[in-house]
Amino acid sequence: MPKAELHLHIEGTLEPSLAFALAERNGVVLPFATEEELRAAYSFTDLQSFLDLYYALMAVLRTEDDFADLADAYLARARRQGVRHAEIFFDPQAHTARGVPVGTVVDGLTRALDAAPRRHGITTRLIMCFLRDEGPEAALATFESARPYLDRIAAVGLDSAEVGHPPAAFREVYRRAREAGLKCVAHAGEEGPPAYVWEALDVLGVDRVDHGVRSMEDPELVARLAADQVPLTVCPLSNLRLRVVDRLADHPLPAMLEAGLLVTVNSDDPAYFGGYVDDNFTAVRDALGLDAETLRTLARNSFRASFLDEETRARYL
Ligand code: HPA
Ligand code: ZN
Repeated sequence: MPKAELHLHIEGTLEPSLAFALAERNGVVLPFATEEELRAAYSFTDLQSFLDLYYALMAVLRTEDDFADLADAYLARARRQGVRHAEIFFDPQAHTARGVPVGTVVDGLTRALDAAPRRHGITTRLIMCFLRDEGPEAALATFESARPYLDRIAAVGLDSAEVGHPPAAFREVYRRAREAGLKCVAHAGEEGPPAYVWEALDVLGVDRVDHGVRSMEDPELVARLAADQVPLTVCPLSNLRLRVVDRLADHPLPAMLEAGLLVTVNSDDPAYFGGYVDDNFTAVRDALGLDAETLRTLARNSFRASFLDEETRARYL
């Protein structure tokens, strides 16, 4: 089924095999002897336990070629999962902190993304995320250092450790992003409370909410999200692996659809969470008993919620 993927961290597509290949190519020593040993470290208890490994493994990403190879590997897999359009997050601060210039990251990623329509039949957008746990000043500095590349960036986002880092602190960098003509998204309501979703909407003015599953705890918020048809990029296998839900059968996805929310299904960090986007569709179908019509609605929603222009979007609906 053709679909768009709207919540995908490119660094979260780093498979163990590519991590070891890039470690070898760049002379980086990983704290794991084998791919099996690395895979054994994928038993997460919460968001932070995942982020610790996610940032550690990025040490292998150093050159423009590394970022191009990473993105091309994702696009090849995504196409096999039915993806026709992908809006891809990257975390510049996770690379600049290690001495990799933002230009190296953007040049490498856009080399693969520019080739994607021909090579894989996939159109793309790039979304630059700020690491919320690094604070608003670091986000502003990151935005300013990325100004030369904004013509290749469609939107800004906000990710990393959520609790204790509410969206409102990032008001100014979102104002500048919007002034520069960018779209705005933010992770909110994954581990954080519904109040963070309200702030993402009312203070940051986001066009979409990433995750947002905890919105279901606040009926007024649900009414607002439904009335404005604010898209929510839900990531079921991520929620399961990071223990946002205990069992997939307990996932709020059906209740979200029932409430009239514009929900999409996405893979988040597929190399870490046990599945790419179609694997997420299959998992919710099996665990929640979603019928074919509901799965088609979810796929249609992914295009409705995308940043594709109206005419291109209409071709998928
Ligand atoms: N949440 C927050 N930060 C992230 C995630 C996520 O699911 N994946 C990569 N960075
Ligand atoms: Zn995410």
